[in-house]
Amino acid sequence: MKLILIGCPGAGKGTQAKRLSKHFNIPHISTGDLLREQIELKTELGKKITNIMDSGQLVPDEIVSNILSERLKRDDCKKGYILDGYPRNLRQAEGLSDIIGEADKVIFIEVNEDVIVERMSGRRDCPKCGQMYHIKHNPSKVSGVCDECGSALIQRKDDEEDTVKNRLRVYHETTMPIINYYDKKGILFRVSGNGDIEEITSCLIKTLEEA
Ligand code: AP5
Repeated sequence: MKLILIGCPGAGKGTQAKRLSKHFNIPHISTGDLLREQIELKTELGKKITNIMDSGQLVPDEIVSNILSERLKRDDCKKGYILDGYPRNLRQAEGLSDIIGEADKVIFIEVNEDVIVERMSGRRDCPKCGQMYHIKHNPSKVSGVCDECGSALIQRKDDEEDTVKNRLRVYHETTMPIINYYDKKGILFRVSGNGDIEEITSCLIKTLEEA
């Protein structure tokens, strides 16, 4: 299954993609994670994109599509994958068909944007295994420590309030048009991202298994 998750920053794409990845046994591929990995490794590419990401702007299409194409060549992608954060504009959506052909399903996770700043300010990530938490809605067992691997949790630089507002603006300008693009192809499914994390996962699984 080639699945794409779309939604505004903080919609829960990463949270749900990790859960779907376990359920369907296919990898979760987040372009945000792939780009952050370059920054973490202090590569030349990482140095080039640090300021762009910290300010909430989009990284140039060519850089992201190259990094994604490389990732999709790995063996674990043979049975399918869940794309999170790609495509993010019409150019990427059109270019994606050259890389993967047609996606099977595109899920649009819709949320009430009033909750976004609160979700982002409470998010904590594990820099080692990628597990994600929220200090109130999805806390780790021991505060500040990853349940899975015991590493110290960190807060993302682009989760500051002003940057989150900029990311939401970029999302409305560039990512929303791809909803229509996939709707016209008849492969778009809308799922509410408001409410309980477990319930949203059940709803996503039901949508994917039935649709
Ligand atoms: P990226 O990493 O893709 O970030 P994003 O799309 O802005 O999305 P987030 O990861 O912030 O949110 P999410 O929807 O995954 O929510 P999450 O599950 O974490 O991109 C970052 C940057 O990379 C971009 O700004 C850009 O610079 C660059 N980039 C990436 N892809 C690119 C591309 N294709 N082209 C160009 N540039 C690109 O949840 C958020 C929090 O809420 C968590 O704490 C979670 O625990 C909590 N939560 C989740 N669900 C619920 C719920 N139902 N109730 C309560 N809390 C919840």
